Amino acid sequence: MLRAKIVGTGSYAPERIMTNHDLAKMVETSHDWIMSRTGIAERRVAASDQSTSDLCAEAARGAFEMSGIKAEEIDLIIAATVTPDYHLPAMACVIQKKLGAVNAASMDVVAACAGFIHGLSIAQAYIATGTYKKIMVFGAEVLSTITNYQDRNTCVLFGDGAGVAILVPSEDESGILSTYLKSDGTLDELLYIPGGGTEMPFGRNGDQDSTLRCIHMRGNEIYKHAVRSMGDASMRVIKEAGLETEQISLFVPHQANMRIIQAVAKRLGMPMEKVFLNLEKYGNTSAASVPLALDEAVRQGRIKSGDYVLSAAFGGGLTWGAAVIRW
Ligand code: UT7
Repeated sequence: MLRAKIVGTGSYAPERIMTNHDLAKMVETSHDWIMSRTGIAERRVAASDQSTSDLCAEAARGAFEMSGIKAEEIDLIIAATVTPDYHLPAMACVIQKKLGAVNAASMDVVAACAGFIHGLSIAQAYIATGTYKKIMVFGAEVLSTITNYQDRNTCVLFGDGAGVAILVPSEDESGILSTYLKSDGTLDELLYIPGGGTEMPFGRNGDQDSTLRCIHMRGNEIYKHAVRSMGDASMRVIKEAGLETEQISLFVPHQANMRIIQAVAKRLGMPMEKVFLNLEKYGNTSAASVPLALDEAVRQGRIKSGDYVLSAAFGGGLTWGAAVIRW
């Protein structure tokens, strides 16, 4: 079986910074509360003329440069997002147009914050069967468009950004060693957007409250599930890769909440020095979180050839998953 290997990463975060102090002027909160409960100090917010695919096009530059692969060589684009440019067509098609990736097939994946891990797993499967050879997996969000800035339970958490990885068949020991995906649709209402879909279409019953287009979340319940599910998924992929936790060089978790990450690391028996963190700067960027962190880790020299890298994520759905990659 062929293994998929990451040969290029890229990321982009919009220029505008929204600090905790900015949020404290909008809702009843404080920098200290947000820092101590989440570890987030600031997040990025896209400009009004920046769509999610624009962020992806920026992120793609770094990945093309790192890999030496050109847009025309790409044969599949997978875009993980819950904030696509349009309901129709898929955001991956818009990315294809912006990159000039004329030879690609394109599809979106909706698995919220676990979307990028889902994309990696799909890419791995296509490469293993020889169907596609050069695949781009994007994770990108403009969550500021679906955040209710009057709800302090959610608005302090989310930010905008994009990340991407380019995968090709591996010719050596490197590549994705194991992936695990899982969902529990009975918990759908713990984290969801009630309005705008076929369940509650806008327009059919007259005007509706615009906050119904925003993220609704039961943070406490998500929190407990996140620690359990990311821990469980991580242990499974480490075992499936034939490794012990001590052999993992770097853990790149979904950057949702510092306390969740610390609890997962503790569950795995992994010291925090082996955990890559950037949530202080970006907050929770959902599907963008893992590829943004992965790209920064690579560019900071935290990931080297031969390293075993663990990644895990969870999100609305509920969905969750993990992967072990030998770099
Ligand atoms: O990618 C997946 C996305 N979702 C998540 O990652 C969410 C996971 N959950 C969390 O990160 C945490 O549950 C939160 C950060 C959302 C909340 O932290 P918590 O320690 O679970 O707080 P809590 O919900 O138990 O609320 C404690 C108190 C409440 O006040 P009362 O009822 O005790 O008086 C909240 O109303 O904190 C209050 N509170 C706030 N206070 C100041 C909630 N949000 C805020 C806020 N500023 N922004």
